[in-house]
Amino acid sequence: MIVGIVDNAHFPPWHVAVGAPLSAAQREVFQQRAGQPFPADQVAAARDELDQFVDILEREGVTVRRPEPRDHAASFGGPGWQSTGLYDAMPRDLLLVVGNDVIEAPMAWRSRHHSASAYRPLLKEYFRQGARWTSPPKPELSDELYHADWIDQPDGEPFRSVITEFEPTFDAADFVRCGRDIFGQRSHVTNGMGIEWLRRHLGDEYRVHEVVLNDDHPMHIDASLMPLAPGKLLIQAERVPQVPDLFKDWEVRAAPAPVIPDGHPLYMTSKWINMNVLMIDEQRMVVEAQDEPMMRLAESWGITPIPCPFRNFNSFGGSFHCATVDVRRRGELRSYL
Ligand code: ARG
Repeated sequence: MIVGIVDNAHFPPWHVAVGAPLSAAQREVFQQRAGQPFPADQVAAARDELDQFVDILEREGVTVRRPEPRDHAASFGGPGWQSTGLYDAMPRDLLLVVGNDVIEAPMAWRSRHHSASAYRPLLKEYFRQGARWTSPPKPELSDELYHADWIDQPDGEPFRSVITEFEPTFDAADFVRCGRDIFGQRSHVTNGMGIEWLRRHLGDEYRVHEVVLNDDHPMHIDASLMPLAPGKLLIQAERVPQVPDLFKDWEVRAAPAPVIPDGHPLYMTSKWINMNVLMIDEQRMVVEAQDEPMMRLAESWGITPIPCPFRNFNSFGGSFHCATVDVRRRGELRSYL
């Protein structure tokens, strides 16, 4: 597995697409701190938790690779735009691994346009060892991709994305996979063309299902719909009022209410990041050390919880699933649905 790093994490320059998946309060912080580094003490605390997480994974027999730190204050751009970077904390957002194909997501945030750079040494190594390595059409990220006048849809109205269908974009974390079936959602970073690109690219061996969830600021599916093991689906009940039919033979359980206290900074996620656990295999779940309810849920489901402190990392917008990407697992390609 690749595990991300928080070093040099920066708030990106303000842009309409950055604000769309955030809550009103988070938007204000991103506007005020645009271009500034994340607080150094929080970076240090999250870095320490990541290192503990890596130790746990290695002790459990996982081969772990990390990217090298980069400068996220450096600016880059394309015709008509400029940006600085964000971080390399969430490889799940960028890399989609399907069999021996490692796909670099064409991300819609300008600040993440060069996200793949952090992983290039690893990607080249995997390529030399026989992996396929795919990059979809490089998005131009020009103004046509964004609704400049976007505002939150009023309560109860259908989701209105901040991005248009100008070109295919998606984040890898808007998809979740079990065997031959891949579930994906449209969001503020993934559009219909992005989903269709993936469907055509993967061809007949895989089925890409578009699901419509009830998330009022959608970006990344892994705090809403999480297949844990064959036959076990964890959901955020409000966001998944109707479980896709394909899971009809699976046991579905709702994530317990998060225990993250109100005062804890969460810059770019909701508290439902509590369900962003990592399954090492069908039996072992890495779960936040203070999250008693999630540990009890695991145990009652025949899963062994492995606690790891991660609350400081959560502030950066993800948890164990976001912070990792599993490059290689044992087993064969199967259909679980
Ligand atoms: N958008 C989700 C929420 O606010 C968080 C998803 C984080 N996932 C990730 N891969 N970064 O609840």
